[in-house]
Amino acid sequence: MALKSTTSKHDEVRKAADRLNSEALSADQLMEGIARLLNKELLKYNWVGFYMIEPGANPPMLVLGHYQGAMTVHTRISLHQGICGAAASSGKTVVVHDVKKDPRYLACSIETKSEIVVPIFVHGKVAGELDIDSHFLSAFADEDRELVEYCAQLVGKQLERK
Ligand code: SME
Repeated sequence: MALKSTTSKHDEVRKAADRLNSEALSADQLMEGIARLLNKELLKYNWVGFYMIEPGANPPMLVLGHYQGAMTVHTRISLHQGICGAAASSGKTVVVHDVKKDPRYLACSIETKSEIVVPIFVHGKVAGELDIDSHFLSAFADEDRELVEYCAQLVGKQLERK
């Protein structure tokens, strides 16, 4: 009889992200791979995308990069707007269990019910963020936060290599 595996889906995905990281030739390639991996492997991660701070822009602006999921009208977001702006300006992960109850929320899709946004740090400064939307309420628990923060940190480290 086969032994029951104690490895969770989140552990598996973390290992797959490690593999992408060791194989990636650039941060750009890693971001593309992570967006695809998270969207494909985790049922509740219905939209996964990166917003990066536009170099030299004044005032600072978040610009949509690699993403998986439906197209969004929010391709440029200021640091004063949305959950995305809140995460980038505070440098803190923002988890919203019910987007309807958060006045900061900028709607991308009527199907979105919860969201997590994790800042990406490069040499201690916010350089962008990893944003995930879910069609499920309260989709992001502690294990999700840990996984998404881990992925954001892999990207930050790759960007530091430049
Ligand atoms: N909901 C985000 C906007 C980006 S979309 O989710 C893709 C926000 O409130 O900032």
